[in-house]
Amino acid sequence: MRHLLAIDELGAAGIEDVLGLTDSFVEVSERSIPKVPALRGKTVVSLFYEDSTRTRLSFETAAKRLSADTMTFSVSTSSTKKGESLRDTVETIEAMGVDAIVIRHGSAGAPWNVAQWGSSAVINAGDGWHEHPTQALLDSYTIRQRRGSIQGARIAIVGDIKHSRVARSNIAAFTLQGAEVTLVAPRTLLPPNLDGWPVKVSNELDAVLPHVDIVYLLRMQLERMTDALVPSLREYTERFGLTVRRAAALANDVLIMHPGPMNRGVEIAAEVADLPNALIIDQVRNGVAVRMAVLYLLLGAGTEWGAETSTANAREARAT
Ligand code: NCD
Repeated sequence: MRHLLAIDELGAAGIEDVLGLTDSFVEVSERSIPKVPALRGKTVVSLFYEDSTRTRLSFETAAKRLSADTMTFSVSTSSTKKGESLRDTVETIEAMGVDAIVIRHGSAGAPWNVAQWGSSAVINAGDGWHEHPTQALLDSYTIRQRRGSIQGARIAIVGDIKHSRVARSNIAAFTLQGAEVTLVAPRTLLPPNLDGWPVKVSNELDAVLPHVDIVYLLRMQLERMTDALVPSLREYTERFGLTVRRAAALANDVLIMHPGPMNRGVEIAAEVADLPNALIIDQVRNGVAVRMAVLYLLLGAGTEWGAETSTANAREARAT
């Protein structure tokens, strides 16, 4: 595997590879000097056509902790503003000599195009409503860190599923690992056709909450909505928000997750996001180690995906 584009392409074995290797990089991240020379001489460029705080900084931190050189492309100050196409931009960047391109783009499928045009490893950091595989990997790692396993976990994904690449990647990743996923949203925030999706669906959050182990909340992605899909944000919060009242009724060990950025007071009450069983900060922290594992598997020595090589590589990465 040369690229990380979608969870289904990675498969259950690929997920195991990344999460297995992540442990080593969590350990590296906890050192006083959290840096190993594993990717010295490699160059990682982040090509972000959409806004990002976490994902971009997380990939850059991950690359730096592996001693790779990093380049950042910011659309607002680039020649994209002068009309340069994605293809020309990619060819220009590749001519400078890069090893990996981390791309976020508003169009579903853009990372697949980039993978065809160039010779670098391509990592999908979010393409439109489609996929965000490293988010699903870091969420999976975070759940396993707390619960030991995802197998059998009952997970409710709540909110704007329709516009959410995070939901699509997480549904694939969670179900590949044996979880039971329920989508909870008003009809207007679900994809029009859910045939073949391995999920249950509900529009009654209060009926679902007593039967879940994990509540995964999504932001209302207003920037992707062309029509008013909910009557008002206040009514949305009343029916689908994890309010203080709903959070208090949850069993003590129910985990609360959110990919960020949060809109406190809309999908999650301000106080609820800071509860001890809310894992939002752990998700961000683990994101760096998960992305180190992904970069290492794609660019590190003897880059073949597979349990044997990755374990050997992890040992080598730790030793160096
Ligand atoms: C999300 C995204 O951009 O896909 N954020 C993230 O990467 N952590 C979700 C969102 O914007 O709501």
